[in-house]
Amino acid sequence: MLSVKPYRGSRDFYPPEMRFRKWMFSRLRSSVEQFGFEEMDAPILEPIDLYLAKTSEEIVSTQIYTFKDRGDRQMVIRPEMTPSVSRMVAGKFRDLKKPIRWYSIPNLWRYERPSKGRLREHWQLNCDIFGAPDPFWADLEILHLAVTLLKNFGADHTMFRVKMNDRRIINYLFENVLKIQADWWAPVARIMDKKEKIPRDEYMAMMTAAGLGDAQIASVDLYLENPARFFADHRDGSPVFAEMEKLMAVAAESGLRDYVEYDPSVVRGFDYYTGFVFEIFDLTPGNNRSLFGGGRYDRLLENFGIQSANAVGFGMGDVTLQDFLESHHLVQNPDKLVHVYLAVFPDPSLLPHALNIASDLRKAGLNVEMNLGQKKMGKQFQEADEKNIPLVIILGEEEIKNNSVQMKNMKNGTQNQVFLENLQESIQSEWEKIYAAKN
Ligand code: HAM
Repeated sequence: MLSVKPYRGSRDFYPPEMRFRKWMFSRLRSSVEQFGFEEMDAPILEPIDLYLAKTSEEIVSTQIYTFKDRGDRQMVIRPEMTPSVSRMVAGKFRDLKKPIRWYSIPNLWRYERPSKGRLREHWQLNCDIFGAPDPFWADLEILHLAVTLLKNFGADHTMFRVKMNDRRIINYLFENVLKIQADWWAPVARIMDKKEKIPRDEYMAMMTAAGLGDAQIASVDLYLENPARFFADHRDGSPVFAEMEKLMAVAAESGLRDYVEYDPSVVRGFDYYTGFVFEIFDLTPGNNRSLFGGGRYDRLLENFGIQSANAVGFGMGDVTLQDFLESHHLVQNPDKLVHVYLAVFPDPSLLPHALNIASDLRKAGLNVEMNLGQKKMGKQFQEADEKNIPLVIILGEEEIKNNSVQMKNMKNGTQNQVFLENLQESIQSEWEKIYAAKN
């Protein structure tokens, strides 16, 4: 017998889960559109070269789903959206009005060990700004958008924190403090990224294996544990320290004071980031996976021949967002929205009339579920009740003769006759009562 389970690390979306997903995504879409972003999409399959150019070695070497197509081309099921968005922006770069503000909610595949907050297939809201006249304000806009997305679900600063850093600060550490060669930077950065997630012994062993001596590891520790001192010691060495302080200060002044903090351990696993980077964490201890990750990646478009196109954005996963909303009781799972259940006396000759009434109501924009079988009336009421449809229209021979129906409010039990010419208005006013009773 075949298994009825979905593939490991992926999910089936039965109607209740789909309803939840649609609710969550429609909230995200309306928040993002408040910031003037436009939705786009790309193919789920891309040639492997797109990811080899400049991405995360961990993803390419251990997490991509890859196969050869019938023409012997090595293909990848997209593990992230940033390379595809960049390819599309580059494809029409000259024609697109800048700054470009695009968003998408693609499903992505990564061969991960499934755990809390991590699956093999997830959906990820991606928001990116390309070609801003002043990248500083694009970074700030991205921060505001990220915070607003969570606030629009009812979240506040007691529930999450934006932790930010700048890749150039880490590069400064590598170049001027550790003085290590450039091809060591990415591997060392990835180990730093793991520091809080792995035991100290393992961390030390990885750093040593990467070629760092004890004094260098101590410098990394000082940077990670006392960033204020690190900033003070090196402020004169690079303008990036003042830039980070300015971003923190303007973010604080513009309403994000309680939401953002500098965190030297935020590195981000992808090699394409060039400046500001951030992650958002749930403050609930059990949900320790990041909710969002993003940053500035000014050089990715160079792979497609577009020079100096600044870019900044983030990805936010549906799995971690759902965990977040559930742990803070912010889920408002909407009921299936059927406005009316059309109950028909069990007589086949009535069905054509019922179909006409249903069509008229649907044309008027109402969602109508019609009884399809020859069920007894009691069973039809029960079905409407079980499906949580608050309004039932009843059609029998008498009603057809009078050009009317009976309308029953399942919430308060009232029932009355309504003439067909008044049906839409009557449904509307009954629904107003149902809404009023709900709120
Ligand atoms: P990322 O950090 O790999 O960044 O993913 C962003 C978010 O997607 C994570 O914070 C998490 O919420 C979610 N996520 C990632 N992997 C999984 C997984 N296996 N299961 C469930 N959720 C997951 C990126 O992908 C960048 N391309 C984001 C970006 C857009 N940067 C700039 N623009």
